[in-house]
Amino acid sequence: MNILVTGGAGFIGGNFMHYMVNKYENDKIICVDKLTYCGNLETLAPISNRKNYKFIKADITDRNTIYQIFEENKIDIVVNFAAESHVDRSVENPEIFIITNVIGTQVLMDACRKYGIKRFHQVSTDEVYGDLPLDRVDLFFTENTPIRASSPYSASKASADLLVMSYYRTYQLPVSISRCSNNYGPYHFPEKLIPLMISRALHNEKLPVYGNGLNVRDWLYVEDHCTAIDLIIRNSKVGEIYNIGGHNEKTNIEVVKTILKILEKDESLIEYVKDRPGHDLRYAIDASKIEKDLNWKPKYTFDIGIKKTIEWYLNNKTWWEHILSGEYKNYFKKMYEKKYCSSNE
Ligand code: NAD
Ligand code: TYD
Repeated sequence: MNILVTGGAGFIGGNFMHYMVNKYENDKIICVDKLTYCGNLETLAPISNRKNYKFIKADITDRNTIYQIFEENKIDIVVNFAAESHVDRSVENPEIFIITNVIGTQVLMDACRKYGIKRFHQVSTDEVYGDLPLDRVDLFFTENTPIRASSPYSASKASADLLVMSYYRTYQLPVSISRCSNNYGPYHFPEKLIPLMISRALHNEKLPVYGNGLNVRDWLYVEDHCTAIDLIIRNSKVGEIYNIGGHNEKTNIEVVKTILKILEKDESLIEYVKDRPGHDLRYAIDASKIEKDLNWKPKYTFDIGIKKTIEWYLNNKTWWEHILSGEYKNYFKKMYEKKYCSSNE
């Protein structure tokens, strides 16, 4: 099979590329990525000379190029990770979120209709459900929770989800959607909470905690997200939506203090700063549908996953220090010169 992974040079897409290239030697795993500020070919370097790996630099909103990619590669499955993904950036500049996350999804699905595929899988987020109150720990997001996005980011993802389901109903495109909670693990861009706090603590820099630090996120180790998507694209019925999460609800301040404790750093590094506008209070996933239908279970608890993550950041300083210095952007040029990947540009 030929599996097209968009956004495969990003955090979760990159982990999924590693997972798929290593697991399915007889499938061809093709990454399409625009390499925006958070797309990083150094993430794919460890698998870049594998026979079943291919990289194409392209923008999912560029219809002609996407059609050409489908024309030249017989694609069986698309897994769409490509997105603008940072809530804080969406508050500053919403437009690119609508362009990439909505129009990009539409272009990909049009290509799927034109050339035919077995499955189009949309990687979505629990943020489409809005938030839950802090004082109702009995409440969880299920697949039937109404869409109620709060940020321009989550509104763009919710719009894409609606479009995906409309292509299923109207054109019978074989689609599926997964809505996952916050991921953490290797190759996470250091502007998101966990990698930001690890990298800053290691440099003895202040750790900015928004508001009172009591907002709750439900953390999932990224490999568990990859195993769930792999099960969905291979085994689920078409037209299904699955929530993915592992019941690891933590307040932000708990997460930051855990990181400081493991790194043996002082809590005086914590600095409470102005809150994010429209800051969602609590996310919490009910993943019983995927557990029941597809027998998925997360492998990692937060205690184990956070230790593995910190260990990875300690052992892979070059990866994140290149990002902090901007050096990672030169890697693309270097990789092209070595002809490790192809470009449609
Ligand atoms: P990321 O920002 O690390 O990676 C996004 C990737 O998409 C980058 O490699 C970027 O270069 C690429 N990209 C952006 N615009 C593109 C375009 N126009 N054409 C082609 N490629 C483009 O994001 P992530 O955290 O890995 O998230 C991946 C997906 O998972 C997103 O769709 C996000 O909404 C979803 N998701 C993320 C989380 C999370 O905790 N990070 C949780 C649930 C769902
Ligand atoms: P983030 O990693 O941006 O993910 P999301 O907004 O998609 O949940 O943020 C996770 C939580 O951490 C969120 O409640 C905002 C908070 N946060 C901080 O307190 N300080 C920071 O510097 C960042 C980036 C996030």
